[in-house]
Amino acid sequence: MTKLTRNLISSIVFFLISLLLVSCSATNATSRIRSRHRPCKRLVFYFHDILYNGHNARNATSAIVGAPAWGNTTILAGQNHHFGNVVVFDDPITLDHNLHSTPVGRAQGFYLYDNKEIFTSWLGFSFVFNSTQHKGSINFAGADPLMNKTRDISVIGGTGDFFMSRGVATLMTDAFEGEVYFRLRVDVKLYECWS
Ligand SMILES: *[C@@H]1O[C@H](CO)[C@@H](O)[C@H](O)[C@H]1NC(C)=O
Ligand SMILES: *[C@@H]1O[C@H](CO)[C@@H](O)[C@H](O)[C@H]1NC(C)=O
Ligand SMILES: *[C@@H]1O[C@H](CO)[C@@H](O)[C@H](O)[C@H]1NC(C)=O
Ligand SMILES: *[C@@H]1O[C@H](CO)[C@@H](O)[C@H](O)[C@H]1NC(C)=O
Ligand SMILES: *[C@@H]1O[C@H](CO)[C@@H](O)[C@H](O)[C@H]1NC(C)=O
Repeated sequence: MTKLTRNLISSIVFFLISLLLVSCSATNATSRIRSRHRPCKRLVFYFHDILYNGHNARNATSAIVGAPAWGNTTILAGQNHHFGNVVVFDDPITLDHNLHSTPVGRAQGFYLYDNKEIFTSWLGFSFVFNSTQHKGSINFAGADPLMNKTRDISVIGGTGDFFMSRGVATLMTDAFEGEVYFRLRVDVKLYECWS
């Protein structure tokens, strides 16, 4: 082999290795999984949570049912990012931002604050539908680091129109007013659809 051929081969090999490295780093695990699997069904909902604050019993759709020894069940614990509070909710689900739109179902379940350092909750709830659009339920569970713009939680199952569904739901805080009202946008992406 001449020196020229050897140089040529080594630069080709170098080029191929660089190409491989660039393409590996360009597609991280999330984007690779996303491009390989497309949702079989995608639905967007909003749900509205009005937390009891000692004065709004008539309007409230959620209530603090658990508090650490240093807190109480009227107001979320002032220290440690509400750590230890447990809230039960029965919130209306709408197809748009408006709290007063006709609900298509209820979001029912609980969230608890489980991080002393940052605002993070853990969500376990169901969307229970009984409307002309949807009948049945979708069940959700997962960690919700509230301060992040979007958070993914698991869709762990479903019934009725959502029989055996599984997937991921992307949550976004669409609005909030102090610690009394928040509205979550829920982008449900199902990767297993049986109906
Ligand atoms: C992975 O890639 C997706 C889409 O290209 C991007 O939105 C996301 O921020 C990336 N994640 C990381 C951890 O780099
Ligand atoms: C209850 O909701 C209505 C309509 O949104 C509002 O006008 C009223 O001020 C609320 N009442 C309380 C006690 O929060
Ligand atoms: C409940 O806890 C909140 C927040 O720590 C505090 O501001 C409020 O005074 C407490 N209320 C009662 C009745 O102890
Ligand atoms: C669903 O709505 C229909 C009509 O309003 C009602 O008859 C039925 O009892 C409801 N079912 C449930 C499970 O709430
Ligand atoms: C939430 O945001 C923090 C800080 O920006 C980041 O370190 C963390 O990975 C994010 N968590 C999720 C689940 O996206």
